[in-house]
Amino acid sequence: MITGKFPSLRLRRSRKNSWSRRLIEENNLSPNDFILPLFLIEGKNKKQPIKSMPGVYRYSLDKISHLIDKAINNGLPMIALFPNTDMKKKNFLGTEALNENNLVCRALQLIKKRFKNDIGIMCDVALDPYTSHGHDGLLDNNYVLNDETVDVLINQSILQAQMGCDVLAPSDMMDGRIGKIRKSLDKNGFKMTQILSYAVKYSSNFYGPFRDAVGSKGLLKGDKKNYQMDFRNSDEALREVALDIKEGADMVMVKPGLPYLDIIKSVKENFKIPVLAYQVSGEYSLLSNGINNKLINKDVILESLISFKRAGANAIVSYYADRLDKILD
Ligand code: PBG
Repeated sequence: MITGKFPSLRLRRSRKNSWSRRLIEENNLSPNDFILPLFLIEGKNKKQPIKSMPGVYRYSLDKISHLIDKAINNGLPMIALFPNTDMKKKNFLGTEALNENNLVCRALQLIKKRFKNDIGIMCDVALDPYTSHGHDGLLDNNYVLNDETVDVLINQSILQAQMGCDVLAPSDMMDGRIGKIRKSLDKNGFKMTQILSYAVKYSSNFYGPFRDAVGSKGLLKGDKKNYQMDFRNSDEALREVALDIKEGADMVMVKPGLPYLDIIKSVKENFKIPVLAYQVSGEYSLLSNGINNKLINKDVILESLISFKRAGANAIVSYYADRLDKILD
């Protein structure tokens, strides 16, 4: 591999000038690499700050069009919708997930009508925005039931597909749901609706600010360790990905991002499938710490984002995706 030695070989030669560094750069970012998460809330004319995520807001539906306009103009390929459901609409079974008039369904219809296919829309498939206990599925004796939950997720998927969702993103970590959702989508005329599996979702301590944003934080009883992955494991991540590919996933997600670059890299090396990274809320909070929306540490943010590309991610879900003009060179 090494073809010479010092002093004839000097690696600093190619680092001397900016043009040369640019010439040999191995990785870079463009807006095509980003997915923008949007937090939705009921009401009118609302832009609610989220305390633990400076610079991120919850928006009422009448406020989202200009955000999406901007996202399209900036060249983002996709947005991801996350509802903050009214407390009084949450219940033990999370039935609001199947209400065709829920916040996500109304947002999907509005966005599709106005923006057609100018931007992709991704939606989480999971029950946590809708359950009174904050878990992603149906609870029985503090255990999240698998098969019964999958049955509900199938219906949630079909509903979201009907409303115009382009990419369904099951984020619940139930066994076997990708295959069952794929089959039901095909049977119901949604052959072209994509599935992005959160195949590798760790039971992480970095999700706190998100749970605050969607209003499930105070509700969550216990933790999600009996369905999300143990952060001590990496072989298991490859088993999860292998299964989801077999079941029909179009893309897979690794989540969280920065503490799991090793997983992104090994998924990419082992499977030739698009791999997305989720730079989660806790990572965002740490990187944004104390800067109150000013992005003074934009170089730190850029460096973190590039690391996802270096690890092999095809795209990144990032709460910075609406401020790329300030971050990318
Ligand atoms: C829940 C879901 C979570 C996130 C996205 N979807 C949290 C959780 O599993 O409790 C976290 C995202 C983030 O922290 O930014 N289905």
